Amino acid sequence: MIVDQTALLIELEPVVAENLDRHLSLAKEWFPHEYVPWSEGRTFDGLLNGEPWREDDSAIPDVARTALIVNLLTEDNLPSYHHEIATLFGRDGAWGTWVHRWTAEEGRHGIALRDYLTVTRAVDPTALERARMTHMQAGYANAHPEEMMHSIAYVAFQELATRISHRNTGKATGDPMAEQLLARVAADENLHMVFYRNLLAAAFDLDADKAMRAVADVVAGFEMPGANIEGFQRRALSIALAGIYDLRQHRDEVLQPVLRQWNVFGRTGLTAEGEKARDELAAHMESLDVQATRFEEKREARRLRQIQKP
Ligand SMILES: [Fe+2]
Ligand SMILES: [Fe+2]
Repeated sequence: MIVDQTALLIELEPVVAENLDRHLSLAKEWFPHEYVPWSEGRTFDGLLNGEPWREDDSAIPDVARTALIVNLLTEDNLPSYHHEIATLFGRDGAWGTWVHRWTAEEGRHGIALRDYLTVTRAVDPTALERARMTHMQAGYANAHPEEMMHSIAYVAFQELATRISHRNTGKATGDPMAEQLLARVAADENLHMVFYRNLLAAAFDLDADKAMRAVADVVAGFEMPGANIEGFQRRALSIALAGIYDLRQHRDEVLQPVLRQWNVFGRTGLTAEGEKARDELAAHMESLDVQATRFEEKREARRLRQIQKP
């Protein structure tokens, strides 16, 4: 059965409604201001003549700062994501309620992270603001603007990726308050992931061949939403070297568990088209495994070299 986009939107509406209710019953209200140690803050230079930001204002390690900046800029680009999602899913009924709710929750993430980083002087606020301007002006474009199943599959993986990334960034800060905040944000991302994962599970029941094609394409072309942040490659490499988010985690902790939930490799009843997509997916997962191992070996060799340095 081939389901067209509008039919799919209508077919999935009750699933959206059900998962929206589930989400609202599980989501906990929380307040960014409660996570920020305001009394630690000091006025900055400029208009109010305070103290300029200095690198040693904060003890947070460099790589954790890099990860915090990437994570925050990713959250910042929300208006662009909202636009893409609202355009694709529409703003009526349960879909619209979800899109707006999701946007409001993601907005909270950006607010909380920015307040925290500014008050604790963890990162250079001028550089951060300039990076935000550059990143947001570049905008974000959905890689599969016409394909609803592709978009749902993408966000399911992406929400889990941000969950892992926030969680590990929190640990890398060595700062219990930052870790607490990032764990809170990560818990939201997990609920977002579950929402989209359940939606695609329903799409698999409607048209397994098409869903399989979507998953194979998305896994093969996966890029984080922040991939167009200035200097992303360099930053992503140091984040990977620090084990905050690397290919192994991407494959084993993001892709694999979601694929398992959809029973991608145990599913029966696919046509030749679906089988072909599944074969591509299996080959890609295999190749990611090889690449991840190679990266881990290089990283280990690099670590040993650094230890041996006089
Ligand atoms: Fe978020
Ligand atoms: Fe999210």
